[in-house]
Amino acid sequence: MATIIQFPKWLDNLIFNEYNAIYEPRPGDVTSNADKNFDFAKLYLGTYFPRSYAETYYIFGRLLENKNYFQSLNDCSELNILDFCCGTGGEIFGAIDILHERLRNLKRIHIDAFDANSDYIKFLFHLSQKYRDAIGINISINPQCLYIETEQNLLDVVNYTNTLYQIAMSCKALNEFIQHDVFPNENIYEKIARTLLPTLDKNGLLLLSDLSHKDPTKGIYYPVIMNNGINSLLHTDNSYKSIYPYPCFFYEHHCHGCYMQDQVYVSHSRCTKDISKIAYRIIGNVDFVKKMMLCVSSQHICKANTPYADKSSPYQSK
Ligand SMILES: C[S@@+](CC[C@H](N)C(=O)[O-])C[C@H]1O[C@@H](n2cnc3c(N)ncnc32)[C@H](O)[C@@H]1O
Repeated sequence: MATIIQFPKWLDNLIFNEYNAIYEPRPGDVTSNADKNFDFAKLYLGTYFPRSYAETYYIFGRLLENKNYFQSLNDCSELNILDFCCGTGGEIFGAIDILHERLRNLKRIHIDAFDANSDYIKFLFHLSQKYRDAIGINISINPQCLYIETEQNLLDVVNYTNTLYQIAMSCKALNEFIQHDVFPNENIYEKIARTLLPTLDKNGLLLLSDLSHKDPTKGIYYPVIMNNGINSLLHTDNSYKSIYPYPCFFYEHHCHGCYMQDQVYVSHSRCTKDISKIAYRIIGNVDFVKKMMLCVSSQHICKANTPYADKSSPYQSK
């Protein structure tokens, strides 16, 4: 059954009534965000921010149902999050809300966030200030405006802080690297995973998520490129392992890069049941992941075989 996430009322009021966000799906324009102006940032905030919020609220919600993972975080009073290509940060606030709801000892969250678009980052910064007051935990955020195009830029991200992260993520952004030939001839998902994995704490997890349709010029589905890249990393480096979707834990060494898609719905004042179609992988240190998976049955069918994995239904705005 499809999951419908209700976007928080106070946040709805803030983005639509105070920040004048606009709900207007523009699938053709939203494929490239690094150079978009302030007006488009308002459209991104009103249309795609709630979807991003719902995606991580849903994904981390599912993950926190794993009682071993829940236990591993439940005693933490502080968490560190790294977001690579954060945009306006919907995925940060979705993650914060579900973590805050489930982890009663959580008192402080620190976020390091990188993105090329300064207008998007401004919204993220102001939202984080409001969030602190709204949910009553200490949120500190360090947003950095950086267009990533060289190895040095990636090193700068990693060397930026000495922090180890419980959550590192990059959501719906790496397709833009593919479209703009940033690091051409390399699998961008593998490259970014190799870059970010060393920043994880021993109980940290890396989430890579992206759109589930086909790249318009290369003609390959993003989830297939993602699964190829992640599996190639896991074949060559046995210090890491997939945790979620659960089937990947069991099939990552047999899978040669399947298609996958999940669907999340979000309802807010401007749209009921707005849909996100995404693909994602979560990986972490092998010992940690194996411990987390002790409570998970091995009876998982591969996501690619579920009815949601429907290539003939590409990502659309509605
Ligand atoms: C579709 S938005 C996703 C934003 C956010 N992660 C989310 O899930 O809502 C993609 C983001 O990637 C950023 N981006 C794309 N290419 C980039 C690059 N080469 N360096 C830094 N940021 C980039 C864009 O500025 C944009 O904010």
